[in-house]
Amino acid sequence: MTQPSTQGALSDTEQLELKKRVAEIIAPLKRDSSNVIVALQAVQGELGWLPPDAFRQIASHLRVSTSEVFGAATFYAQFYTTPRPAHMVKACSGTACHVRGGQRVLNAVKNRLNIVPGENTPDLKFGLERVACFGACALGPVLVVDEEAYGSMTPGKVERVLEEYS
Ligand code: FES
Repeated sequence: MTQPSTQGALSDTEQLELKKRVAEIIAPLKRDSSNVIVALQAVQGELGWLPPDAFRQIASHLRVSTSEVFGAATFYAQFYTTPRPAHMVKACSGTACHVRGGQRVLNAVKNRLNIVPGENTPDLKFGLERVACFGACALGPVLVVDEEAYGSMTPGKVERVLEEYS
């Protein structure tokens, strides 16, 4: 998966490399306006996200407007217009988890990863999100990493859980 080295602006070299990769990925696709979603899926499937230049490149290849491609990418929740981390950590901030110490668990994750919800670590290994409720309130506080749920979390268990993904 080609990812930029940081979550900030892409360097010229990174932009150039991504442009080359996108061109290679969409080259085999038939130049047809019905292929917008297919092209977006192909690029994201390969790179893990949709770099800014990909919209113009896909539009030019399929002979449609850039706004049509961008509109499709932002309409469907399956598409990411920013780099995705290798592992997404989701901390529950719902009431049931909160009263059982959910905030302390979230703080432990923030301290361990040195990021706040909505951010990725600079190496894109972890991202952190706050979620309203996972629907597993009896297990709270709940922490979810990728698709794996961890119940009865404590700040002390955070290190062990994240270690599984390091
Ligand atoms: S409040 Fe945390 S899972 Fe429902």
